Formats: sequence, structure tokens, C-alpha cells
Amino acid sequence: MSDAHDIVLIPGDGIGPEVTGAVVKVLDRAGAPLEYHRRVAGLAAIDAGKDVMPGETLDAVRQYKVALKGPCTTPVGKGFTSVNVQLRQKLNLYAAIRPVRSLEGVPTRYDHVDLVIVRENTEGLYSGVENEIIPGVVTTLKVATTEGTRRIAERAFRYVEKRGRQKLTVFHKANIMKITDGLFIDSVQAVHDERHPDVPVEMMIIDAGCMKLVQDPTKFDVLVMENFYGDVVSDLAAGLVGGLGVVPGANIGDEDAVFEAVHGSAPDIAGKGVANPLALLMSAVMMLNHLHETTGDGRCREAAAKIKHGYNAALADGQKTRDLGGDLGTLAFADAVIERLS
Ligand code: NAI
Repeated sequence: MSDAHDIVLIPGDGIGPEVTGAVVKVLDRAGAPLEYHRRVAGLAAIDAGKDVMPGETLDAVRQYKVALKGPCTTPVGKGFTSVNVQLRQKLNLYAAIRPVRSLEGVPTRYDHVDLVIVRENTEGLYSGVENEIIPGVVTTLKVATTEGTRRIAERAFRYVEKRGRQKLTVFHKANIMKITDGLFIDSVQAVHDERHPDVPVEMMIIDAGCMKLVQDPTKFDVLVMENFYGDVVSDLAAGLVGGLGVVPGANIGDEDAVFEAVHGSAPDIAGKGVANPLALLMSAVMMLNHLHETTGDGRCREAAAKIKHGYNAALADGQKTRDLGGDLGTLAFADAVIERLS
């Protein structure tokens, strides 16, 4: 396809290759005008004799500007630093946008959940700076900068305005971390007052915020928070709408965008052909909408709409993977979506 959009495809580890394979199949059948440039990262890169985060993979994302990525494994407690954190930091993908929505055919405790988590993606507790001061005393550095906190605030307010959302809620712990989280909430307030005074903004201490979130998630709209809180609250929120199999994400910077599901490489089910490809498929829909917004190519919007219709219809017809109470495998679910593309 000569007039296709070049995108980088990073299959990832664990269930990554299974779900990316299923998603590419759906994208192709939906007529998404994409040319894939496959690159490796994580364990797959090590297996190929490369660095865990190869420079050529980063260069490809810089060149093509858009990537679709499967999850990458990070060893617990020892071993290499997170590929995902590295990728986000090196490409300055400072905003993770994670829509969390109820789906017809996926019954959960709450109907009508429709919230979006905007997670700061490059600083906070995930600075990666950890030290042993003396034996038995270790520290992790939590970093907040004026630039980093203001740009995530700006991104969150713009999201509220552009999408016609109602309000922005800030989760923080500035009662304890007075300087770092204090800067976070001061920056949000300053960006609000200077540039987005009409957007209602509420500040909420994160522990009480989590309690309110599980009591009634429909009271929330767009939420913004630092890196670590965003990581945890994303999984919590996924649990409100059916789990990690149904929550997509985009990592966005000023230059590049990497689309990936919230879930990880799920080693417990890897290689069994049972993983739910929907979260990555929804991420691919976000990617197509991003390509439409940035290039004006209506084919991307059309393919996105077809796929969205396809997966909603499949779920409504009871076509589901195991995590959602069904019995379809990864590829069988993709086929159920393909049968309903329109
Ligand atoms: P995980 O998200 O991989 O799995 C948590 C649970 O959810 C598991 O029971 C898993 O089977 C299930 N699950 C996840 N995705 C699923 C899907 N698509 N369909 C059906 N079930 C699904 O989280 P965990 O176990 O904490 O992390 C495993 C590895 O993934 C770690 O190495 C971690 O560092 C990495 N990870 C990578 C991420 C990324 O690449 N963006 C994000 C989160 C974790």
C-alpha cells in the first residue's frame, strides 16, 4: 500500500505477540491503511541478541511518529529497568490517556462508567533513581518539575475541552508529600487559572478519591495524576468495567504517540491463545483516530468506526473471551469482530 500510514509495530512479550497478531488481522480486514514496520523491545529484543530497548526501535518511532505496542515484561525486584518506562521517558511520551468505559454485554457492578485517566508518564516516583544509602536503608527519588507538571495539566485541560467533558479531578497526596505533590496541584491550579478558567476542577486526596471511585465511578469524568498513582488507579478503574482485557491506552508526547493496552504481558496465560485482544484493539482504534486527527485521512476514521461497531456488536452478541466469562480464544474473538465489521 503506497498511500498507507507507516507505523511501528512492537509485538512485545508474553501475550503480546498473540494479541498483536489478532489486532493486525482485524485492522487489515477493516481496511485500515497501515504499513507496519516491526521492531522489538523487552525480552523479545534480548532473545534477538539486542539491547532491551534497542536504539533502532526508538529511532523507528521517532521516524514514523506512531507505534502500536504489545506489553513488555519487566523482571520483579532485579534485572533490567522497565522497557515501558524507558520508552516513555526517552520519547518524552509524557501523557498516558486511558479511557475506561462500560461495555454492553460486559455486566459489572456499575453501568454507565465513562471516565478517562490522564497519567503523567515521565516523572514522579518512576524516575528510576534508587539508591542504597547504607546497608538496610534504601530510597527512591520522586521527581516533579514545573515543566512536567504544567504540561500534563495543560494536556488534561485540553482533553476536557476538546472532548466536551465536564470536569477535571486531580488525585494527589499533597497533605503528606507537600513539595512534590504540592507542585503538582499548584501547577494544575495555575494552568487552570491562566488558560482554562471555565473547566471545573476538583482536588482530591488520592486515598479518599479511590474510595469514592469504587463507591460510584459514574461521579468521575477526567482524572489527572502523577505517574505511580496513574499506574495503580488505571488497573483499579479497569476492574470497574470488566478488567484489564478491556482498557486501552495512548502514550502521547508533543512529537510521537505509542498506543498500548493498560495490561501487561500476562505470563500466567501467555502462549495459551486465551488472552483478550480487545484492549489492544481499542488502543488501535485510538491510534486510527489519532491518525485521522493528525493527517485528515478519512479512511482511518472509517476503519476505526467499523472496528468499534464490530467489537461492540460481538460483545452484545455474547461473543467473549474467558476473562469476560466467555469461552472464545484470542483469534476466535478477533474473527467474531471481523464478522461484524460494518
Ligand atoms: P498483567 O496485566 O500482565 O496481568 C494481570 C492479570 O490480568 C493476570 O491474571 C493476567 O492474566 C490478566 N490479564 C492481563 N491482560 C489480559 C488480557 N488481555 N486478557 C486476559 N487476561 C489478561 O500484570 P502483571 O502480572 O502485574 O505483570 C506481568 C508483566 O507485565 C510484568 O513483567 C510487568 O512489568 C509487565 N507489564 C507491562 C506493561 C506494559 O508493557 N505496558 C504494563 C503492565 C505490566
